[in-house]
Amino acid sequence: MACCIYCLILMGLFCVSCKTSEHVDMVCTEITANKNYCCEDLGLTEIPKALPAITEILDFSFNFLPSLHNSTFNMLKSLVYLDLTRCQINWVYENVFQSNAKLNTIVLTGNLLLFLAETAFAGPYSLKHLVLTQTGLTSIMFIPLHNLDNLETLLIGSNHISSLELPPNFPTRELRYLDLQMNNIESISTRDTKILKQTQNLTLSLKGNAIVHIEPGAFNSSSFYSLDFGGCIDISVILAGIQNIQTVILWLGTFQDVEGTLPISPVMLQDLCSISVENVNLQMRHFRPLSTATFLCLTKLRNLDLTHAGLTAIPPNISGMKMLKELNLNENSFQHICNISSAVFPSLTHLSVRMNLEELNLGSGCLEALTQLQYLDLSNSQIENSDCCNEQLKGLSNLQYLNLSYNKQHWLKNGAFNECAKLEVLDLAFTHLHISASQGSFHNLHLLQILNLSHTFINTGIQHLLTGLQNLVLLNLDSNSFDSGIILNDNLFQEVPSLKELILSSCELISVQSRAFHSLRDLKHVDLSHNKLTALSTEAFSNLKNMYLNFANNRIHFIPRDMLTSLSGKSIINLSYNPLECSCSNIGLLTWYKQNLDKIEAPEGTVCCEHKSLAGMKLSAVTLSCGMGTAGAVFLALAVIIVIVASLILTVRFLKRQYHQI
Ligand SMILES: *[C@@H]1O[C@H](CO)[C@@H](O)[C@H](O)[C@H]1NC(C)=O
Ligand SMILES: *[C@@H]1O[C@H](CO)[C@@H](O)[C@H](O)[C@H]1NC(C)=O
Ligand SMILES: *[C@@H]1O[C@H](CO)[C@@H](O)[C@H](O)[C@H]1NC(C)=O
Ligand SMILES: *[C@@H]1O[C@H](CO)[C@@H](O)[C@H](O)[C@H]1NC(C)=O
Ligand SMILES: *[C@@H]1O[C@H](CO)[C@@H](O)[C@H](O)[C@H]1NC(C)=O
Ligand SMILES: *[C@@H]1O[C@H](CO)[C@@H](O)[C@H](O)[C@H]1NC(C)=O
Ligand SMILES: *[C@@H]1O[C@H](CO)[C@@H](O)[C@H](O)[C@H]1NC(C)=O
Ligand SMILES: *[C@@H]1O[C@H](CO)[C@@H](O)[C@H](O)[C@H]1NC(C)=O
Repeated sequence: MACCIYCLILMGLFCVSCKTSEHVDMVCTEITANKNYCCEDLGLTEIPKALPAITEILDFSFNFLPSLHNSTFNMLKSLVYLDLTRCQINWVYENVFQSNAKLNTIVLTGNLLLFLAETAFAGPYSLKHLVLTQTGLTSIMFIPLHNLDNLETLLIGSNHISSLELPPNFPTRELRYLDLQMNNIESISTRDTKILKQTQNLTLSLKGNAIVHIEPGAFNSSSFYSLDFGGCIDISVILAGIQNIQTVILWLGTFQDVEGTLPISPVMLQDLCSISVENVNLQMRHFRPLSTATFLCLTKLRNLDLTHAGLTAIPPNISGMKMLKELNLNENSFQHICNISSAVFPSLTHLSVRMNLEELNLGSGCLEALTQLQYLDLSNSQIENSDCCNEQLKGLSNLQYLNLSYNKQHWLKNGAFNECAKLEVLDLAFTHLHISASQGSFHNLHLLQILNLSHTFINTGIQHLLTGLQNLVLLNLDSNSFDSGIILNDNLFQEVPSLKELILSSCELISVQSRAFHSLRDLKHVDLSHNKLTALSTEAFSNLKNMYLNFANNRIHFIPRDMLTSLSGKSIINLSYNPLECSCSNIGLLTWYKQNLDKIEAPEGTVCCEHKSLAGMKLSAVTLSCGMGTAGAVFLALAVIIVIVASLILTVRFLKRQYHQI
């Protein structure tokens, strides 16, 4: 009986202790010890007491905190960044952040704020970023400005604000970013914007507001970094309203889901002439028509974006576009690259005609005028090139970047890129390549650093495929195949001695010969994942110091220890998803693994192979004793006894014989 009572008392004590420990236990995730915690979506109704007082970054989003008081955060005196996204906060009382002097960012996104006390944000000396997106605000006037003098970012998008009217004491000294997108502002008056003239280099977003009127002069002589009127219905209303302004970026594009936007006639752009602007975005706008007159007020631009503008051609007799450096013509419907009239833009350094909606014919010499072009993106444009690429790229002698990926097919002959000897990046991925070049198609590309040939079905048997690429740093051969699945010692990589990164994933490789990569002395990153390799052939590399090796998803069962010991310095190896044996015959790997966990990538996927009792166990958790088993020991003891007995008998016999002879 006494014993049972004793048991009960013990059980009681145990329960108390488990309750207290539950209370103290940290439910949040520690991102950086004592500094950065994530308590996202844990159903919490208060800030956990266990958070260290010196916490600086706290993500408390998706919890439940209907009201904020002066005691809610008073333990966390070092807070710098506080995320309270969607915590069902309705009431923010006086001096909520009075104890958080260092607070720099407060995120209140997605809380329906019914009450914001005048001193709600008092306390932090230098609050810089305040996010009040989707908080049900109906006026900027409702934002308590107390202590916001150092504000740099104010995000009040997706609310019901109908006026840009700003209070006279609105903080402008440090303000760099004012986001008012997706509100209900229809009209802007001179009085509204007076205070904004004090800002410098401001990014102002009015995207998604259905602006129908701007009082003339409302923005007169203002200066911005970026002005965003994305999705507005009538561009001419905007341009008339922002006469005489200066801005680096003017965003006038629209979006798929915006209905009723007016097509742009040349007259609608005439007010652009009095605006000082460098970059204009007109994505998804349609032109009725796109004519020489459309460009009359665009002559001072450096950067023009006409993505998805329904274009089939650009008139060849446009003049005055000599300042333009970057032109974006993505997602249009050109049949022929000549239709972009490249000679109209002789100073271009960047041209992008990506994701063309028609099969794009590259013709011959259509880009010849672009002698300063450095960057050309023609990816994803259904291009088929029967004799790539000298005729097509004629004159582009300064080209450094060429993207021809995701096209149909190209036939490459000897010296296919002779016209652009300065290429540094060449991307041909996901395009069927037919290479009929005994001397290599790239042999003049001495400056090339990055070559992407992934998914190109190239013939890797061409010994001189990579001839001339003496400065190549990165070669991607993902999903190409090698003869019989073997990388021979004598291979095409001999030609690229500067290579640092080599991607050979999904190449159906069965084996790599023992000196295959010996000529690549700078190699630092090798991806051999998703092949059929059965051995970890580290001897194939000449230098394994600070190397990244990915052998994941292969068929490796055993790894002898000496294949691993050469991985020195800060080397990393990914061995995940291999059928590794966790038996004594693999003890070399198992012991090395435990001693070198810092070198292992993806340990969660590095597990013992299926069919044994240890199947699925992480390699680091396996403990094997690989001395002799008991059976072995008994056997050995028996053997020893037999040997001793036998030699005794022999000795006795020998002695007897000796004795008899005497
Ligand atoms: C916090 O607010 C309460 C009233 O809501 C007030 O009585 C108390 O003095 C305040 N605490 C501090 C430290 O200001
Ligand atoms: C203006 O603002 C932009 C973006 O915020 C920034 O990249 C740029 O450096 C700023 N320019 C000046 C002169 O401060
Ligand atoms: C705009 O400002 C200029 C001088 O900066 C002035 O001459 C002009 O009258 C102003 N226009 C309007 C409509 O306020
Ligand atoms: C430009 O060419 C078009 C025909 O392609 C013609 O209608 C137009 O008048 C020309 N404009 C100028 C300014 O020469
Ligand atoms: C596009 O260019 C080709 C070749 O120069 C020409 O035949 C065709 O008429 C042009 N198409 C348009 C829409 O200008
Ligand atoms: C080339 O374009 C494709 C598709 O547009 C893109 O995914 C890829 O990153 C680009 N290549 C380079 C080297 O930038
Ligand atoms: C080709 O490889 C380069 C370098 O890894 C990469 O930047 C680019 O995105 C790749 N291209 C495609 C189409 O994936
Ligand atoms: C290890 O390699 C596999 C296969 O390439 C890859 O999916 C995985 O992301 C890699 N692990 C890490 C942590 O990068």
